[in-house]
Amino acid sequence: MPEIAPPSAPRTRSGFLGRVHDWLPDRVDLRVRIAAWVSLILEVAIVGTGGAVRLTDSGLGCEWPLCTPDSLFPTAAQSYHSLIEFGNRGLSFFVGLAAIAVIVLVSRIRAERRDLWIMSWIIFAGVLVQAVVGGILVIFQLHPNMVAFHYLVSLVLVAVSAAFVVRMGQPRGARERAVPKGVAILVHITSFVLALTVIFGVLTTGAGPHSGDPAVTLRNGFDATILEHVHSWPAYALFALTLALLVIALANSLTAIRNAVILLLAIELVQIAVGLYQARNALPPLAVGVHMVLAAILVAACTSLGRRLKRPAPTPAAVGAEDAGTAGAASATARG
Ligand code: HEM
Repeated sequence: MPEIAPPSAPRTRSGFLGRVHDWLPDRVDLRVRIAAWVSLILEVAIVGTGGAVRLTDSGLGCEWPLCTPDSLFPTAAQSYHSLIEFGNRGLSFFVGLAAIAVIVLVSRIRAERRDLWIMSWIIFAGVLVQAVVGGILVIFQLHPNMVAFHYLVSLVLVAVSAAFVVRMGQPRGARERAVPKGVAILVHITSFVLALTVIFGVLTTGAGPHSGDPAVTLRNGFDATILEHVHSWPAYALFALTLALLVIALANSLTAIRNAVILLLAIELVQIAVGLYQARNALPPLAVGVHMVLAAILVAACTSLGRRLKRPAPTPAAVGAEDAGTAGAASATARG
């Protein structure tokens, strides 16, 4: 009769699965870092290829889920639009692969790093949602509100991927504020204003000329010229808030956030310049595409800033050691 291990016996891992388990990182190592960065870069890149689909009028270049009724791939009879649309679908496969790689690589440390484990699943779930939404978009003939939703979900995924990248570099455990409360509030207000800018931006796009296919004339019904102005107001407010943050960070030597604020401000400057250029030049597709990608990079930079408002709290042991050190130094001074 085979021996049954008592329930309390430690589980031994052997064979192929055991070797896989042993190979998996037992801490955030280079493999996790590379996979997380690749995942973030691909999340931003797919915003660019998605933009290319819309701005080259390739939105209906392929049917869905297959490219033609009987081919997964574009056929020779189809135009370059199908290649652009299919290229975007192809990239989404690699985005999904990177998301799975991150899940696998953090699976062994999932108990200690629940934060990373949860974020990795959110990213993967988001990629699945995007695959479905992308298909529904084709079926619903590029409805402008759905195009806007598709873009916004991508930005949320960029934000979560950026949060993962920052968090993986910080130890787990209790955290405390790294900046004064007022500064933390100002950063949250800045993030909110960025979100407003993005929302008015997608509304402007939904009213504008680039629907994704020449045959699709349905727009969201807003006046694009008015929205363009309404969209630029929070953009300027964002810039003013970030400038204020930089002055405060420099004046108070807030090294925890200083570099992140400088990066955010630099990207905002370029983004505003591109926004003004495209608005005054009848929305050239390349400039609009750059504007879309820069918005994604801004979201990543702003997330990174937000994640730096807190730092690991000193552990009781470290505090004890510090107290002992201070007490020792005090008694040595008293003896002296
Ligand atoms: C930091 C500042 C800015 C951010 C984060 C931002 C972000 C965005 C976003 C997310 C979109 C929608 C992209 C899409 O749905 O495909 C957009 C569209 C647009 N933005 Fe901005 N923007 C900024 C500043 C500006 C400025 C200053 C202007 C100048 C008026 C501007 C002009 C436009 C225009 C005209 C569109 C519509 C493009 C189209 O119809 O396809 N943006 N922006």
